[in-house]
Amino acid sequence: MRVTTQQLIQWKQQKRSIVALTAWDYAIAQILDAAGVDLILVGDSMSVVLGYETTLPITLDEMLYHAKAVRRAVKRAFLVVDLPFGTYQDIQQAMNSAVRVLKETGAQAVKLEGGYPAMIETIARLVQAGIPVMGHVGLTPQSIHQIGLRQQGKTQEDSERILNQAIALEQAGVFAIVLEHITADLAMQITQKLSIPTIGIGAGVHCDGQVLVTSDVLGLSEKQPPFAKVYTNLRETINKAVQDYSVEVREKKFPHN
Ligand code: KIV
Ligand code: NA
Repeated sequence: MRVTTQQLIQWKQQKRSIVALTAWDYAIAQILDAAGVDLILVGDSMSVVLGYETTLPITLDEMLYHAKAVRRAVKRAFLVVDLPFGTYQDIQQAMNSAVRVLKETGAQAVKLEGGYPAMIETIARLVQAGIPVMGHVGLTPQSIHQIGLRQQGKTQEDSERILNQAIALEQAGVFAIVLEHITADLAMQITQKLSIPTIGIGAGVHCDGQVLVTSDVLGLSEKQPPFAKVYTNLRETINKAVQDYSVEVREKKFPHN
């Protein structure tokens, strides 16, 4: 049975931490789903495995192509797809993009960055149209050329602004919110204030769940953000396998007969 938005909210009430990771293809998604990951995000952070320097160039068609591959693998996890930069900046465009994601990929929800008034209005309209939306505040990487990649919410004023955005997003009807790279204290306040789950990345231990970029977790990214944890170094593992294979081919040791 698939995880639902109701299930995610119930887990918050039960204080059962939500485990989330990103996926970009069938093989990775199959491994994560079978391992029991609760929520899989086809994040625009897959820009990393596609060789883009930021999340700005990735297109809706690229997101759809990868989301379809991920969907074919997912049996249990709740599946969310990011709307990429420039595909939801007015209401009609957001509606068209979100509908394409749900119709063409079979994902259960979309995620949009930002909590400023125009985005709140857009998100409220999507929710009213029956589209489950996940919010994302704090560090929003699609705004890199305005805010950089530094931690957000460090001043009292900025911290209040982010708290108010999170409250407005809940009122607009999002079923969960990603809190990225904000202080643990602010994330705790937001988590206590809201009745929908907060999913943190670089936002401390008090969130209702955690998400990381899977290419960071696996050591596939060329560089990781300071809050990521590299659980295994696949770059080294793959390099070793390729070196071993190359030696065996060159020395006529493979194939074995
Ligand atoms: O694209 C992504 O991976 C994300 C997560 C960092 C939440 O948006
Ligand atoms: Na993203």
